[in-house]
Amino acid sequence: GNITFTMIKPDAVAENHIGGITQMIEEGGFRIVAMKKTKLSEERAGKFYEVHKERPFYGDLVKYMSSGPIVAMILEKDNAVEDFRKLIGATNPAQAEEGTIRKKYAKSIEANAIHGSDSDENAKIEGDFFFSADERF
Ligand code: GTP
Ligand code: MG
Repeated sequence: GNITFTMIKPDAVAENHIGGITQMIEEGGFRIVAMKKTKLSEERAGKFYEVHKERPFYGDLVKYMSSGPIVAMILEKDNAVEDFRKLIGATNPAQAEEGTIRKKYAKSIEANAIHGSDSDENAKIEGDFFFSADERF
């Protein structure tokens, strides 16, 4: 697949890392197809992360993701989903490799700066959650 979806999470937006993270994304060879700053309500954050609703951290995750504005983007590149997961690094920043976005910007396993879709199917679902056709270029 050539498309993935990402969000710069509330901690990274609050600390003025939108520019630094977006620079790493573009220098990583991704083209920004769609981009917006918005804030998720608890209800919408709960819906976005519904796949995790049985996990013990779900409640905390939903509160965190609705705690402040995020920046959502659709990104294009060959092999986008897999290559973007490599660029962001491990979920837990303590395990993230040097040169990854999470190594540089993540603060904890929860406040880990950035989201990346885990499959082509979810990339489409997640992109459609935020963007209409006339917001994509
Ligand atoms: P995303 O790209 O955001 O989907 O992260 P991921 O795919 O690397 O991790 P996963 O989908 O397993 O978890 C989704 C998000 O839940 C993570 O990015 C974290 O913000 C949060 N999370 C994951 N594991 C934990 C945990 O053990 N504790 C807490 N508090 N949050 C967690
Ligand atoms: Mg995930």
